[in-house]
Amino acid sequence: MTAMTELVDLDRRGRVAVLTVNNPPDNVLNHGVRKGLTDGIVAASGDAAVSAIVITCAGRTFIAGTDTTEFRKPPREPGLHELLGLFEGSAKPVVAAIHGAALRVGLEIALACHYRVAVKAARFGFPEVQLGLLPGAGGTQRLPRVVGVEKALQMIASGDMIGADEALRHGLIDELVEGDLTAAAVAFAEKIVSEERPLRRIRDLEDEIGAARGKPEVFANFRQSVARQTRGFPVPEACIKAIEAAVHLPFGQGLERERELFLELVNSHESKAQRYLFTAERDPAEIPDVPADTPAQEIRKAAVIGAGTMGGGIAMNFANVGIPVTVVEVTQEALHRGLGVVRKNYENTAARGRLTVQDVERRMGLITGTTDFDAVADADIIIEAVFEEMPIKKEVFAQLDTIAKSDAVLATNTSTLDVNDIASATSRPESVVGTHFFSPANVMRLLEIVRGARSSKTTIATAMAMARRIQKVPVLVGVCYGFVGNRMHHQRGKEAEKLLLEGALPHQVDKVLYDFGFPMGPFAVSDLAGLDVGWRIRKGRGETLAVADRLCEMGRFGQKIGAGYYKYGADRTAVPDPDVEKIIVDLSTQLGIIRRPISDEEILQRLLYPMVNEGAKILEEKIAIRASDIDVIWVYGYGWPVYRGGPMFWADFSIGLKALRDRMLEYQQKLGGDHWKPAPLLNQLADQRKTFTGYHSTLSYEGLYGPRTLPGPHDRCL
Ligand SMILES: NC(=O)c1ccc[n+]([C@@H]2O[C@H](COP(=O)([O-])OP(=O)(O)OC[C@H]3O[C@@H](n4cnc5c(N)ncnc54)[C@H](O)[C@@H]3O)[C@@H](O)[C@H]2O)c1
Repeated sequence: MTAMTELVDLDRRGRVAVLTVNNPPDNVLNHGVRKGLTDGIVAASGDAAVSAIVITCAGRTFIAGTDTTEFRKPPREPGLHELLGLFEGSAKPVVAAIHGAALRVGLEIALACHYRVAVKAARFGFPEVQLGLLPGAGGTQRLPRVVGVEKALQMIASGDMIGADEALRHGLIDELVEGDLTAAAVAFAEKIVSEERPLRRIRDLEDEIGAARGKPEVFANFRQSVARQTRGFPVPEACIKAIEAAVHLPFGQGLERERELFLELVNSHESKAQRYLFTAERDPAEIPDVPADTPAQEIRKAAVIGAGTMGGGIAMNFANVGIPVTVVEVTQEALHRGLGVVRKNYENTAARGRLTVQDVERRMGLITGTTDFDAVADADIIIEAVFEEMPIKKEVFAQLDTIAKSDAVLATNTSTLDVNDIASATSRPESVVGTHFFSPANVMRLLEIVRGARSSKTTIATAMAMARRIQKVPVLVGVCYGFVGNRMHHQRGKEAEKLLLEGALPHQVDKVLYDFGFPMGPFAVSDLAGLDVGWRIRKGRGETLAVADRLCEMGRFGQKIGAGYYKYGADRTAVPDPDVEKIIVDLSTQLGIIRRPISDEEILQRLLYPMVNEGAKILEEKIAIRASDIDVIWVYGYGWPVYRGGPMFWADFSIGLKALRDRMLEYQQKLGGDHWKPAPLLNQLADQRKTFTGYHSTLSYEGLYGPRTLPGPHDRCL
C-alpha cells in the first residue's frame, strides 16, 4: 500500500488499483484528500499493470461533504473541478464503492465515476438546499442525466436522501453488493474490464434529459407542487433553473449556469440566514457554566401532572421515544378525557398512514393514567402542567417534594409564573426547572428550558438532555414574565392592536406579516388560538385591549365559533368581516383617534422593531445567552421565516442596528410610549456599528435576583 497523502492510500489488488480515503469521521473532502486522490488517479492511470480504479473510504462513511473551514482560505490546487475531470476523463474505468452516505460533494464525486456500487445500507443525497445552496460541482448537471429530471428535481430541491434500493431502481448505482465492500467493488471492476464495457461518462448521457426536452410541464408541475412549502425561499427555484439548464444546454454551459446560480445563492441574504440558523440551532447546547460533560440524570421513567391541553401532548413526547410515562389527574373523569384526546391524536396519525395500529397501542401502553400522586415516586423527571395559578402550582410542588425520589427533576410548564416562586414550595429548589413547551406540545419542536435562580447544573443538563431525547430543540432562558418568546410576542400584540385603532384593518396587518414570511398574521393567529384565552388573562390582571375585549364581549372567540377578527365559513377560510371593521372604526371614534392610512412599511416596522428592542433587553438582562438563541426560539416557536434568520439576525443584517434605532426614535417622537425607547444595548451596538449576533452574554444569576423591575405585564402568553 502506498500513501498518496496521509489521507489517501493507493493499493493494488490484481489489476485493480484501490484508492482509499481515510479522513475520519466523515471523510470530508479537503486539500489533502483532493491531492491524494489526484496523485492516486495519475499514478494508477500511468501504471500499465492497472486496468481499473476503485475509490472507497475507510471508517463509517463515503465522502459526506467538504471541509467548510477551507472556504475562508485562499483556494489551493488541485481544485475540485480538476479532480472531477480526472475521474470522469480517466481512460480506465473508475468505480465508486459506497457505504454510509455519499452526500454533497461525495455524491458529486461518485457521479463523476463511471460506475457505482454500494452496500444496502448506503444513502445518497444533496442536502445543500437546507443551507440555501445547490450542489455546485456538477451535481445538478449529472444527477438528472442518470436518474431522470423528475427524480433529480425531487432530490436536489427537497434535500431528501434516498436509500440504496431506490438508488439502484433509478440507475444511480449499478450494483448492490454484500460482504466486504472493497472486495466486491474490485470484483465488479474486474467484470467491467473482462466484459470490455464502455466507460460510462454521465456528462455524455442523453436519454434521460432528452426525454424531458420540449416538456415544460415537467418543471411547471414541480414548481407548483413545492410552491406552498417553499414560499419565500429562493433556493428551490435556483435548483429548478439549474436542472432546466442540464436539459437545454450542452454539459459545459450547464456547468457554467450551475456556477452562476450557486454564486447568486451563496451571496443571498436567504442562504446566509439559513447557514446562520444551521449553526444557531446547535449553539444552545453550549451553556458557558454547564459544560457538555456535566453529569445528567438518565430518564428511564417520566411523569406528567395534569392531562389537559399541554399535559397530554407532553406525555406523548415520552411515549413516542419509548419512555414510560405516568399521567396524574385530579379526577377519573379528567383523566379519561385527557387520555381520550391522546388516543384520538394517535389514531388520527394512524389514519393518515403515519403510524401503524400496533404503534398506537404500543405508545398508549407506555402511558399510565392515575389519580394517585404516589405513582410518580419512581419517575426521573416530573413535569407539572396543571392550571396556570400559583397557589395550585405551589400545592402540587409541595406534594411532589414529599413523593418524588431525591434525584428526580421537578419541572413546571408554566408560561407566565415565576419559576423561583414555584421552586420555593419545595425543600429542593435546586431540582426545579421550567420546561416551557409550546402548543401543540407533541408537535412544536421548541422547548424553553427555564433556569431558576437555584436550579443545579445537573438539573439543567438533565432537562436539556431530556429535551433532545424527545426530539425537541431546547433553548436555555432565564426567569422573567413571558421568558423570551412570549415576552417579545407581547410587544408585537400590543402594537398590532394600536395599528387597528389608528387606521389599519386586521387583514391588512396580517397580510404584511404573511408577505414577510410568517405562516399567519397576528390576528389570524389569535383567532386560531381563541381570543378568550388572552381575555381571561387580561381580566385577571386588570388590563384591557379595546378591540380584542370588544370582540370577546360579543362572543367572537375566534375560529372555534366561526367569528373573531374574521368570519369563517365551513372550510375555515378567514374572510374580512364588515361588522369587525365597524367595531374598530367606532372604537377609534370613541377614543378620539383620527384614523389615517397606514403604509405596509410602517406596519412591518411597528410590529417587529419593538420585538427586536425587547430582544436587546433580554440579552442585557442575560435572560438569553446569545442572540442566536432568541432567533432559534422565534423560528421554532413562532413561525419566523427561516430565510430571514430570526429577529436579531434580521435586525443586524437586513435592517442594520443604527437604522433600526434611529427609526425607533422617530416613532418615539411621533407616537410616544416607553416601548419605543431604544434599549441601552441597542443604542450601544448601533453607535459602535456592531451586531447582536456578535454580542454574547452569559446566563448567570448574579445581580438578577436583587430588586429589579420585571418587564411589564404580558397578556398574550399562550
Ligand atoms: N395551552 C397552551 O397553549 C400552553 C402553552 C404553554 C404553556 N402552557 C401552560 O401549561 C399549563 C397547563 O395548561 P393547559 O392549557 O394544558 O391547561 P388545561 O386547563 O388544559 O389543563 C390543566 C389540567 O390540569 C389538571 N389539574 C389541575 N389541578 C391538578 C392537580 N392538582 N393535579 C393534577 N391535575 C390537575 C386539570 O384537571 C386539567 O386537566 C399551564 O401552566 C399553562 O400556562 C399552556
